[in-house]
Amino acid sequence: NHQEVQFDPSWLQMQPHVPMNFVWPKECLVDANEEFQAPFVDLDGFLRGDVEATNGAVKLIHKACSTHGFFQAINHGVDPLLIGQVYNEMDSFFKLSLERKLSVRKTPGSLWGYSGAHADRFSSKLPWKETFSFPFQDNTLEPVVTNFFTSTLGEDFGQAGVAFQKYCEGMKELGMKLLELLAISLGLVDKLHYKELFEDGCSIMRCNYYPSCQQPSLVLGTGPHCDPTSLTILHQDQVGGLDVFAENKWQTVPPRPDALVVNIGDTFTALSNGRYKSCLHRAVVNNYKERRSLAFFLCPKEDKVVRPPEEIVCRDGTKQCPDFTWSNLLEFTQKYYRSDEATLQNFT
Ligand code: SIN
Ligand code: FE2
Repeated sequence: NHQEVQFDPSWLQMQPHVPMNFVWPKECLVDANEEFQAPFVDLDGFLRGDVEATNGAVKLIHKACSTHGFFQAINHGVDPLLIGQVYNEMDSFFKLSLERKLSVRKTPGSLWGYSGAHADRFSSKLPWKETFSFPFQDNTLEPVVTNFFTSTLGEDFGQAGVAFQKYCEGMKELGMKLLELLAISLGLVDKLHYKELFEDGCSIMRCNYYPSCQQPSLVLGTGPHCDPTSLTILHQDQVGGLDVFAENKWQTVPPRPDALVVNIGDTFTALSNGRYKSCLHRAVVNNYKERRSLAFFLCPKEDKVVRPPEEIVCRDGTKQCPDFTWSNLLEFTQKYYRSDEATLQNFT
C-alpha cells in the first residue's frame, strides 16, 4: 500500500542525499568482502560431444549446484560481438528521455516493459536501477523479440530488436544444452529429460541498468532474492556488483567478459527434488560508474506440470515439493510482489 513513486533517474542522481524510499535496512547492506569461488565450467568439449570433457563439466556443475547453485560458463559459444552489440542497443534504450521510456512502462502485474528505478514499485525499499524486460519464445512464425521492439518503440529500434532476438536465441540454445548437463549431473538415464518441459516455454529477457549513486552504501541495485525461474544466464559488464550469499556471508562475483554466470532458480530446485540449490543474490551499486547486466531467465512451458523425475523421487524416497505449473508460480509471484516483505519482488 505504498504510493507509486515517480522519480526521474537524472534528478535522483543530483540530490545531495538519496530519498528515504531508497535507503535499505542496515541488515541488507552488509558489505561483501570476499570473492565468491563460482567454478568456471568450460563448455567447449561438451558442445563438441567430447565424452571426457563432458564428464569434467558435469562434476563441476554437480558440486556447484549441490552447494549454492552458481557456476560460470566459458567457451559457451555465444558470439562476444553479439554481446557487445546488445550492450550498445541497451545503452541507446536507457538514454531515451524518461517520457519515452515511460511510454513502454511495465504495468502492475505485467512482466514486460520498462521499470524505472524509480517507478512502479510497491516497496518502501526501492531498487537503484532501471530495467527493460521482454518475452522470448522460439518456434514461432514471427520473431517475438524483434516484433516487441518495433511494436513498442517503433522502427528506430528495429536493429536493436534484431540483435536481441539473436541474443535470446543464443541464450535459449545454451539453456537447453545446460539442461542436458544438469540432467546428466543428476544421474538421469535420459539427458533430454527436461527438454519437453522447456522447449516451447516463454522465457524472460531483462536488461538491467544501474546508475552510479552518490550514497552507494545506503542503497541496493537489486535487493536480496532467489530467482523463481529455472535457470538464469547472466552477463555482467566489467564494473562489478553481483553478490551471492554463500557460506553465511555476502561474497562478490568478479566480472569476466567471456563468462556467463549461470544460477539455479527455485523451479529447477523443484525439478531436482531439492538437490540443487537456488541461492540468495543481490546487486550493489557504486559512486563512480553505471553498471549493466543482461539476464535471461529460462522458463518452462506455462501449463506443463513441474515435477521431479520419478528416478530421482525413487532414489530419494520422497517428493520434496508439490506439483505446480509455471503459470501457478507466476500468478503467485505477481500477488506476492505487492507485499513489502517479499524478497520475491526484488526479482522483478
Ligand atoms: C545483476 O545485475 O548482476 C543481477 C540482477 C538480478 O539478480 O536480478
Ligand atoms: Fe536474480
